[in-house]
Amino acid sequence: MARISASVYCSHVPAIGAAMDLKKTAEPYWQPLFKGFEFSRQWIKDNRPDVVFLVYNDHATAFSLDIIPTFAIGTAAQYQPADEGWGPRPVPVVNGHAELASHIAHSVIQEDFDLTIVNKMDVDHGLTVPLSLMCGEQDPQQGAWPFKVIPFAVNVVQYPVPSGRRCYQLGQAIRRAVESFDDDLNVQIWGTGGMSHQLQGARAGLINREWDNAWLDMLINDPAACAAMPHIDYVREAGSEGIELVMWLIARGAMADLAGGPKPRLTHRFYHVPASNTAVGHAILENT
Ligand code: DHB
Ligand code: FE
Repeated sequence: MARISASVYCSHVPAIGAAMDLKKTAEPYWQPLFKGFEFSRQWIKDNRPDVVFLVYNDHATAFSLDIIPTFAIGTAAQYQPADEGWGPRPVPVVNGHAELASHIAHSVIQEDFDLTIVNKMDVDHGLTVPLSLMCGEQDPQQGAWPFKVIPFAVNVVQYPVPSGRRCYQLGQAIRRAVESFDDDLNVQIWGTGGMSHQLQGARAGLINREWDNAWLDMLINDPAACAAMPHIDYVREAGSEGIELVMWLIARGAMADLAGGPKPRLTHRFYHVPASNTAVGHAILENT
């Protein structure tokens, strides 16, 4: 049986990818941020998953504003890093797990979550920056990331966006789907994006440290209360792009404590401002 061993939470600022690609990580601006991921890079080497179910958002890259799926699951064998205007990032191709992705799609759709199936797409910074933060520099010539990835794209760019409650329920269905897959796979689920940031309008540059940290406490310790928070609270408190945080509730919903298991262990927690326009949050929760 496949099982979810851990969930990882992580922001996805594009400038972090650029800092790595342009070899600027030791500069004073970036050094404290990357220091917060040293532990995580060792941890993932020591606890290497077979597959990461990576919840992220596409930024009108693979999906233009012509078609906007609320929830889209990648069922392809491979995904190329997208060209977001400066050429594709020099990172490896992302290898998928088509069998597990198809199984999850089947299981979750039969539980009444209407996913879009995606057989071909490029993946933008929403997916590649968390991979880079967790895995460190990877030589694209050397082949691949150290595990397979199932991309799961959530619309948090164009209203209406899904509620935190819907994301939380979906996470629970994803756990059931993973646990009904016959192969013995170690699966991690990652919730990415956030924390507080606003890239546009009168409040551009907004950061709310106090709210971010209280929200992360709640996500860890009282996820049901976190899931009940309406979308407007995210926008008011964490800025227009702070709504990306609902994606973290998919990962939290997939943890074992919601199905009668023990509370997850908080293995690592980190918060850092500034990184471009965004407050970077990061946590690792392990099922025990
Ligand atoms: C920034 C953050 C994002 O989430 C994003 O998608 C693009 C830019 C930023 O902080 O610059
Ligand atoms: Fe974003």
